[in-house]
Amino acid sequence: MKSFLKIIATVAFISVTFPINANAEGDPVSGEDIFNKKCKICHTAEQGGDAKIGPNLFGVHNKKAGQFAGYKYSKGLIEADLTWDDATLDAYLLKPRDVIKRGKMVFAGFRKPQDREDVIAYLKTLK
Ligand code: HEC
Repeated sequence: MKSFLKIIATVAFISVTFPINANAEGDPVSGEDIFNKKCKICHTAEQGGDAKIGPNLFGVHNKKAGQFAGYKYSKGLIEADLTWDDATLDAYLLKPRDVIKRGKMVFAGFRKPQDREDVIAYLKTLK
């Protein structure tokens, strides 16, 4: 009986310490790594960074789309009138063209939800 209780306590401890659920927050460290491999060719992330092929992404989370001064966004992005909250970023990073029809971000998208969650968690740290 005692060992049975011990097992219950251990399982409870593990599920509190390492929650396994679909809404788990992404990992910003893994997100930075993914960003460096997949986004950095076109985007800078540091405050005051220049635009490259795409705009600088410092502070982009929860910001209105199309706000980086001096960057020439597509008409599609401006007309879409979006705010980059979690859900919008998630949809954009899954399939950019589904969110902005005539957008100019040429990126295939992440099929794995974890990749998107991690990158979004990293974007949130840029403030
Ligand atoms: C091949 C270049 C390229 C790659 C790779 C790329 N982007 Fe972009 N991104 C762009 C361009 C160009 C735009 C401007 C889109 C427009 O005007 O329609 C953009 C726009 C954005 C915006 C909107 C910014 C704003 O100010 O509204 C976000 C957010 C974004 N990209 C995130 C990412 C992330 C995260 C990655 C990596 C997973 C990524 N991008 C990879 C080129 C790229």
